[in-house]
Amino acid sequence: MRVYLAPMEGVVDHLMRDMLTRVGGFDLCVTEFVRVVDQKLPHKTFYRLCPELHNDCKTPSGVPVKIQLLGQHPEWLAENAMTAVELGSPGVDLNFGCPAKTVNKSKGGAVLLQHTQQLHDIVYAVRQAVPAHLPVTAKIRLGYEDKSLAIDNAVAIDEAGASELVVHARTKTEGYRPPAYWDWIKKIKAVTRLPVIANGEIWNHDDAVRCMQASGCDDLMIGRGALAMPNLARHIRGEEAPMAWEDLSQLLIDYSGYEIFGDKGRYYPNRIKQWCGYLKRQYPQAETLFSNIRRLQKADEIVNVLRQSAHL
Ligand SMILES: Cc1cc2nc3c(=O)[nH]c(=O)nc-3n(C[C@H](O)[C@H](O)[C@H](O)COP(=O)(O)O)c2cc1C
Repeated sequence: MRVYLAPMEGVVDHLMRDMLTRVGGFDLCVTEFVRVVDQKLPHKTFYRLCPELHNDCKTPSGVPVKIQLLGQHPEWLAENAMTAVELGSPGVDLNFGCPAKTVNKSKGGAVLLQHTQQLHDIVYAVRQAVPAHLPVTAKIRLGYEDKSLAIDNAVAIDEAGASELVVHARTKTEGYRPPAYWDWIKKIKAVTRLPVIANGEIWNHDDAVRCMQASGCDDLMIGRGALAMPNLARHIRGEEAPMAWEDLSQLLIDYSGYEIFGDKGRYYPNRIKQWCGYLKRQYPQAETLFSNIRRLQKADEIVNVLRQSAHL
């Protein structure tokens, strides 16, 4: 069984990847998407979204990080895929699932799920550009407004030469609302030769078991669930119980250290509040913590509250 950490734009950056992979249980991380329009992007764009490139494209605990690209033009995606692997990404992932309005207006992300031939052409062009020993993978939803093209899209991606497919088991219109339609992943698996990784709505061990049964997949990708329970990957593997609040409080303090002294200190107050929002699902204590830090704007004030909460 493999467990991947899901890409989450604006949430799972290199600091979060570092922290979650230290907690453990992950085989691979995928970066926030690199937006490709109609040019070859400078190296600094890749290093900004994937500072792990300076470390053999691995997190400090040694978990590989793969760069994700989002865009609509096969040739520009291929150009930038080459840059990503030249800089050290162990392959390239293509985003065909992003529901954001700004991204879809310029025809990247989930909107491409309505254009099967274009999906094929993108994967094909990127596959041709990236050396054969490195994987070119894709991440899809089940469709844009409905699921009528789910199978055709998966077959097209397979025929274009993709190495692996992650399926977030919902349409763009279904957003992030439960349920996830894991049974559709099984239908996709039945028609492709590709290894398929199941994604969507896995919050605990039971969800993981039900998802594996319904989808027929051994491999999972987890996103919001890993923020709500940082040791979810290990928990799913049956290695650990959900992390206790005391340990989590310490983790929040450690994370504050990375954040404040990392290169994103000014984002820290928002990031920690955002994370508390996810934690509330699993830990009632996070609700109190959130209301205690909600109005605070200064990092040191927030860290003081975290310290107090850890000693409660
Ligand atoms: C805030 C946020 C940002 C996301 N950013 C990306 C992204 O950059 N690339 C991508 O392929 N998916 C992105 N996703 C989708 C997740 O990778 C994942 O498919 C989705 O959250 C469902 O999995 P989960 O139920 O385990 O969270 C994002 C999701 C959220 C909630």
